[in-house]
Amino acid sequence: MKKVLITGGAGFIGSNFVRYMLNRYPEYKIVNLDLLTYAGNLESLKEIENNPNYKFIKGDIADREFIFKLFEEEKFDIVVNFAAESHVDRSVTGPGIFIQTNVVGTQVLLDASKEFKVERYHQVSTDEVYGDLPLDRPDLFFTESTPLNPSSPYSASKASADFLVHAYHRTFGLPITISRCSNNYGPYHFPEKLIPLMISRALNDESLPVYGNGENVRDWLHVEDHCSAIDLIIHKGRVGEVYNVGGHNERTNLEVVKTILKALGKPESLISYVIDRPGHDLRYAIDPDKLESELGWKAKYNFDTGIDMTIKWYLDNRDWWENILSGEYKKYDEKYTNV
Ligand code: NAD
Ligand code: DAU
Repeated sequence: MKKVLITGGAGFIGSNFVRYMLNRYPEYKIVNLDLLTYAGNLESLKEIENNPNYKFIKGDIADREFIFKLFEEEKFDIVVNFAAESHVDRSVTGPGIFIQTNVVGTQVLLDASKEFKVERYHQVSTDEVYGDLPLDRPDLFFTESTPLNPSSPYSASKASADFLVHAYHRTFGLPITISRCSNNYGPYHFPEKLIPLMISRALNDESLPVYGNGENVRDWLHVEDHCSAIDLIIHKGRVGEVYNVGGHNERTNLEVVKTILKALGKPESLISYVIDRPGHDLRYAIDPDKLESELGWKAKYNFDTGIDMTIKWYLDNRDWWENILSGEYKKYDEKYTNV
């Protein structure tokens, strides 16, 4: 039996990971700590909310007093930190909260993990900490030894957190691991990010805003494959190590958007080229060799099967994303947290 703290468990990847862990380890206790910012949505966890091994707590990872009290009471064995401000565009218009949550919040969790001697602190990081790769060098990939070179306030805040996590290992001996994953997609993805935004807008026959010329490349991984990677890393990964997570599924943004339009039977005339994201990273591409060879991880989905499943999920779960677009989803959070 282990008690696992999952922070940010009401967000996209965190909610998938909460479900994954409850299914895979029926003897574990899972505590989901989430501030329920605009990106947190308890409707994503409806089917497990009454599981006796699951508990939701509303709170801020950067609130030191609250976090220390929680760690003292709950005595976690494992901490997995997903909680973050995660949207690059929002970090361009308002960087401050990214520093507060992603850097200060991580440091508070590290201090509490040190004080209450957790057996593993895992930081969910991102491939964006490496910066970007040129479009004309398909032979280049991010490895764990690629220097950190972040471009946006979001990725700079995530890189800062990674440095802190390493420092707490080196200086205090905190048993940490870090995963750096490429772009995720799948169920419960907030419709501000490329794939769910394009699916929801196409279904409503709205224009699809493609930044710049649409030639930027992202390396897509189904969220379930990210969950299985983190599971392996927290149980079998070597303390102090970084593991890159990715499945070699590079696509230009335009390819992704056209795939979605084709699957939905919508015309390409919906595409609208709009002004580029400032500092827009050109290409991400992960070399997952360390995770595969050391821990035996293998991605289950390739992009072609994964995107079809995902589009079907958005068609079958219209209520979920329509409630977000209308703002209704916050009423469910309020109802749930007031009972
Ligand atoms: P998300 O924005 O969907 O979810 C973030 C969650 O954190 C939300 O539920 C939000 O309410 C919560 N949160 C925010 N501030 C908080 C605070 N101060 N205290 C407690 N909870 C707080 O993000 P996501 O896409 O699920 O990403 C989760 C993690 O994975 C992030 O750390 C992100 O950097 C990392 N990551 C994401 C991707 C991706 O493609 N989405 C890829 C690699 C890594
Ligand atoms: O690589 C991992 C990262 O992936 C995570 O760390 C981030 O949390 C996550 O948000 C994601 O960052 P991106 O910036 O790559 O994702 P986003 O969905 O915002 O954009 C994907 C690409 O699509 C990017 O090149 C910008 C482009 N784009 C995005 C939006 C929202 C558009 O062309 N139009 C859009 O409307």
